Amino acid sequence: MRAFAEWLSGTGPSVAIQSTFWLIRLLQATHLLTAGVVTASGVLVALRVLGWHRTAQPFAAVWRRFAPWLAWGVALMVATGIAQTLGDPVREFTATSFWLKMVVLLAAVTGTLGIARAGQRVPPATDFPVAAKVMAAGLIICWLVLPLLGRMIAYDRAIWGSFSLRS
Ligand code: HEM
Repeated sequence: MRAFAEWLSGTGPSVAIQSTFWLIRLLQATHLLTAGVVTASGVLVALRVLGWHRTAQPFAAVWRRFAPWLAWGVALMVATGIAQTLGDPVREFTATSFWLKMVVLLAAVTGTLGIARAGQRVPPATDFPVAAKVMAAGLIICWLVLPLLGRMIAYDRAIWGSFSLRS
């Protein structure tokens, strides 16, 4: 993995990102701001499933409210995330936090899409089944852990010790 990351960091696009001072800062700022939008949207959808938020509204209305923010937000996170990764592939690919984050992101997105599809079948003003509520609680943890893992990348060795791929 490290050999591939070192090769990638020598490619034209990677060198261009590394050597453009303002670009990395713009990517980081956009990534950080959009992280807030995505995390909030994902958590608010799951809170509706738990019956702790917007309970007077049918799930479909809550989904219609937050799905565009979630969709555009995740798309922007993937784009700025890939660009940041290309800007310093060795740092990212050798971080245990980075790979854990990718797994948690996949679980959060597929879980939220799954619960949204199930939510369309729940008649308005009726409660979600217990299994959906347990899944919603898991999704809240995923959406809240994601930004933490993003921040932990910078301290990977200090946090994971010998489990860090940076060791
Ligand atoms: C919606 C999901 C995501 C959330 C909530 C998220 C959140 C974050 C946060 C809070 C940071 C720390 C920012 C900072 O300290 O300046 C971060 C950094 C980062 N994220 Fe994400 N991120 C997400 C998706 C992604 C994706 C899809 C990728 C890659 C394809 C990615 C790659 C990165 C990279 C490379 C960094 C910089 C880490 C470093 O070198 O210190 N992120 N992310």
